[in-house]
Order: sequence, then C-alpha cells, then structure tokens
Amino acid sequence: MQHAHILYGSVYGTARDAAEQLHAQLRSQGLSVSLEKSPDSARLSMLEGALIIVTSTTGAGDVPDNLHPFLHWLETCPDLYRRPFALAGLGDSSYFDTFCGAAEQIQAKLEDLGANALLPSLKIDTLEHADAAAPLLAWGATLPDALRLSWQAA
Ligand SMILES: Cc1cc2nc3c(=O)[nH]c(=O)nc-3n(C[C@H](O)[C@H](O)[C@H](O)COP(=O)(O)O)c2cc1C
Repeated sequence: MQHAHILYGSVYGTARDAAEQLHAQLRSQGLSVSLEKSPDSARLSMLEGALIIVTSTTGAGDVPDNLHPFLHWLETCPDLYRRPFALAGLGDSSYFDTFCGAAEQIQAKLEDLGANALLPSLKIDTLEHADAAAPLLAWGATLPDALRLSWQAA
C-alpha cells in the first residue's frame, strides 16, 4: 500500500489539532497515513510517499520551531522530484505581508525541488475561521482521490 505522511508545524496547538483531525479523516478513508510531529533528517529521508504539510506561521512569517528540521532538510536538496505533496497554511490576515508566510516558504522550497502539488494549496485565515479544522477537513476530503490518481500515474 502507498503511504502519505502529515507533517505539522504548530506553536499553540491549533495547527496540530487540525492536523490530528485530518489524520483521523484520511485513515477513516482507508489510507495509510502517519502523523509526524518533528521528524529529523534521518526519519524524513526514510519516508516514502506523499507529504502533507499543515503549518501555522509564527514571528514575522516564520516557520514554527517543530518544523525547523523539515525546513533544514529541504535546504539539503533531497530528491523530491515529482514527489506528491499537499500544503495547508494557517495564519492571520491581520499580519498582512506575512500572512501564511511559513506555508509560502515551504511551498517555494518544494517547488524548487520539483515536487508535485496534488491540490492547490490552502490558506486558512484564523481571523475568519474560529474552527480552523473545518476548512482543512473540507480541503482534505479531496485528497484521497488526488493521492490515488498520483499513485496510479506513478
Ligand atoms: C507571536 C505570533 C506571531 C504570528 N505571526 C504570524 C504571521 O507572521 N503571519 C500569519 O499569517 N499569522 C501569524 N500568526 C497567527 C498564527 O499563525 C495563527 O494564530 C495560527 O492559528 C496559530 O496556530 P498554532 O496554534 O498552531 O501555532 C502569529 C501569531 C502569534 C501569536
């Protein structure tokens, strides 16, 4: 069976809770999915299959600490050519220029490496959505079909 891995970046728990719900949803749809809290480069290099990233933004457009190992791993230029990924950012639009900056940083690195977006990336404005999990789960409902299509094409 093909695998997918959810990596989340979270400071206060909102993105973590939403990622946990997405994990449960995807598993209930029969997918083999792991939930990764802060995988190091050794673990990241072992992961096979699609990468699903759910990250909030902290500081001024910064990636949460627990995703720094992932960010640094991306900078070592791992072979992610055509690797399927999906990316959802949580942020607050009152931060204007740095709205969902963490998700944007990660997206740019994945694109540079030639990874293959399964879906248009999602930006959740937590000013608008008190329950950030709701838009994440609606977006995630389209993931199983997108994943299966990418696995058939591989
Ligand atoms: C200190 C601080 C800095 C933040 N900086 C940004 C930012 O630059 N851009 C953004 O879109 N949201 C920013 N946010 C909003 C968070 O990304 C948002 O509240 C998110 O839901 C927090 O998720 P978490 O609980 O998983 O960390 C910031 C929040 C805090 C508390």
